[in-house]
Amino acid sequence: MALRIMLDVNDLHAYYGKSHILQGISLRVGAGEIVSLLGRNGAGRSTTVRTIMGEVTPVGDIHFKGERIDGLRTHEIARRGLGYVPEDRAIFPGLTVRENLLLGMKSARRPGRWSLGDVFGLFPLLGEREHAPGGVLSGGEQQMLTICRSLMGDPDLLMIDEPTEGLAPMMVALVRGLLEKIAARGTAILLIEQKLTIALAISHRLYVMGHGRIVFEGSARELGEQPRVRSEWLEV
Ligand SMILES: Nc1ncnc2c1ncn2[C@@H]1O[C@H](COP(=O)(O)OP(=O)(O)OP(=O)(O)O)[C@@H](O)[C@H]1O
Ligand SMILES: [Mg+2]
Repeated sequence: MALRIMLDVNDLHAYYGKSHILQGISLRVGAGEIVSLLGRNGAGRSTTVRTIMGEVTPVGDIHFKGERIDGLRTHEIARRGLGYVPEDRAIFPGLTVRENLLLGMKSARRPGRWSLGDVFGLFPLLGEREHAPGGVLSGGEQQMLTICRSLMGDPDLLMIDEPTEGLAPMMVALVRGLLEKIAARGTAILLIEQKLTIALAISHRLYVMGHGRIVFEGSARELGEQPRVRSEWLEV
């Protein structure tokens, strides 16, 4: 059976002023898949997800669950089930962990497939700190909180920009486990990463970007067989 396509990006271009940043990006994410978008600093990974979310004007077509979303406003795109965790991992430090999570809900009356209890089950520390201000969490714990907050919005696909950046190895392992549990419940993931470590371990497919273009597409095994892609576009 063919994989149901969640996100289908076709020949996407984007500009900051006169700078032509995205130069024809095409990528797909299927239902329940974990797909990684890799590349060095400045390759255009964040611009790709920001453009998909409508924060940067898209030129090209983007379909989500079979419908065109390019040209829609960011909040409308999110409402249709496309979740996004930006790289700045902003939480509300003065609000409790619980309040931060509830802010992620689309509607208080219509709960999604992830309840507060489910989220606490995924990452018990959030349950233990439920009534503590978000600001007392460590950087890694705040990253987990932003991911879990997005789950409360009931996304069919979650795009997460560099969730392991700056985290200690133990926290990286926790993030990895969290992403695998999310995908196992049927929420697809587009993971933006620079490091290969968790991307190679958990992705069904990977894309590598360089200078605003896709320079590789394939499985972890196929990437392993192409040392030149790694040396030219990934390893610093
Ligand atoms: N707001 C902006 N205005 C102008 N240029 C920008 C802006 N944001 C990013 N750029 C430029 O666009 C290019 C792509 O940046 P982008 O943030 O998408 O890269 P990235 O792959 O996410 O890398 P990293 O997160 O490591 O910086 C870079 O050359 C960057 O300098
Ligand atoms: Mg970035």
